[in-house]
Amino acid sequence: MTANPKELLSHDHARLDALFAEIVDAAEADVDSRTLGELWTAFERGLLAHFNAEERYLFPRVAATHRDEIHELAREHDEIRALLSELDIAVDLHFLRAANVQQLVSRIRAHAEREDRTLYRWAQELGEPVKSALPVEDRLKRSIDF
Ligand SMILES: [Fe+2]
Ligand SMILES: [Fe+2]
Repeated sequence: MTANPKELLSHDHARLDALFAEIVDAAEADVDSRTLGELWTAFERGLLAHFNAEERYLFPRVAATHRDEIHELAREHDEIRALLSELDIAVDLHFLRAANVQQLVSRIRAHAEREDRTLYRWAQELGEPVKSALPVEDRLKRSIDF
């Protein structure tokens, strides 16, 4: 299946959101710590790969025309990464606090909605860079862990 970067990344947002809901359910159902740890690792890996792909392939493409917004999106990535590592410790200690989890999920959702309105729309409008060796979606597909 070929998807453009907008579809690909929006799809990945939905996938990560579903994975996160699974973690919350698992934490509430008091599953064993190994299962919770595995779910968490899959989510964290997926989210970090998603951020890395955006930073490598999409941010540079639109930075020239939308510098301030890209700066803000990059700052949000850093904030979310910091929240992730805080929760990483909580998972290691088998202790996920509902308030922290909720904070992370609402930050990620707000970030995803913002990207849908800005970054993804602009990347879509730009189309394919002329000198690109590979279509951006192929490069994204390699970076994002589906
Ligand atoms: Fe992002
Ligand atoms: Fe994103």
